[in-house]
Amino acid sequence: MFLSIEKAAEVLKEGGIVAIPTETVYGLAGNAFDENAVARIFAAKERPYFDPLIVHIAEFNELETLAEEIPENAKLLAEKFWPGPLTLVLPKKTSVSNLITGGLSTIAVRMPKKQIARDIIKLAGVPLAAPSANMFQRLSPTNASHVAEQLGSRIDGIVDGGACEVGVESTVVGFENGIPVVYRPGAVTGEMIAECLGMGYEIRRITLNSQLSTLNSSLPSPGLLNKHYCPSTPLFLGLPSEVSENCGLLAFGELPRNLRVFAKVLNLSEKACATEAAANLYGMLHELDSCKLSRIFAMLLPPVGLGNAVNDRLRRAALSLPN
Ligand code: TXA
Ligand code: MG
Repeated sequence: MFLSIEKAAEVLKEGGIVAIPTETVYGLAGNAFDENAVARIFAAKERPYFDPLIVHIAEFNELETLAEEIPENAKLLAEKFWPGPLTLVLPKKTSVSNLITGGLSTIAVRMPKKQIARDIIKLAGVPLAAPSANMFQRLSPTNASHVAEQLGSRIDGIVDGGACEVGVESTVVGFENGIPVVYRPGAVTGEMIAECLGMGYEIRRITLNSQLSTLNSSLPSPGLLNKHYCPSTPLFLGLPSEVSENCGLLAFGELPRNLRVFAKVLNLSEKACATEAAANLYGMLHELDSCKLSRIFAMLLPPVGLGNAVNDRLRRAALSLPN
């Protein structure tokens, strides 16, 4: 199941689908120009076709094969934050498959920072479509064993690149009349985008409340459904006034008193560091989820910088109904 980068590139060239590490989360990759491979990605994840995929490139000039036009602000952001955890939503070339874009006229593209990911793209010789390597609406994988558990038997292999450094998915940015809008918060924050573009105003964010909680293809970024990133154990935000039996706590910073009432406690960051919390988020959720708890309670982070991205994932996980 585990492949070298050379073998992975070979499999990808032949139309296979392989999980690869990136600095954010593991992605399930396939040749973006091979409709069959793209269809297999949707099938393996049981992802609905209206939820478009991100295409990964290793060099800036590959963008020409995907995007019809690159707004000035997008160029500035790419110059500053690529390679890195930033996805740009751009008008697509007509030659790009509608399957990848869920029928939208735009395509999401990112150049990952992790060297292994870029090496695989270069060796495969084509841009790689790669959503996060998890089943639809389940927890994202931040190490190779997370991928193996959820998708091992459904895909052609996994490249083990160790733990993902950032730990939450890339920031997704679209452009409405040239003005950037953050569809999904990530490590490249609204503040960083505003600073890069020299904008004297706050970057607009699509918030959870502005979205519908049902499956709906009319969202500005269709994958950003409220229900997302969920463990199979029910998750609740904040500390409960009363704790019933067999509950877990995902803490942040200084631990609250009365911890003995929890059957299992994990701390995202004892020193209250949002970067550390993001890197630990999915690993700790996977671990709590495997403890057969009745409920998980999660403390929110201060809503600044990466704290916004972590809170966004926790809020979506809390909205989710377990199967
Ligand atoms: O960090 C990441 O972005 C990871 C790694 C593997 O690169 N990938 C990832 O992909 O998170 P995925 O498929 O799980 O999330 C892609 C998000 C979805 O919410 C989708 O709706 C949005 O990007 N998206 C993709 N194409 C879009 C488009 N044309 N317009 C608006 N949103 C788009
Ligand atoms: Mg995903």
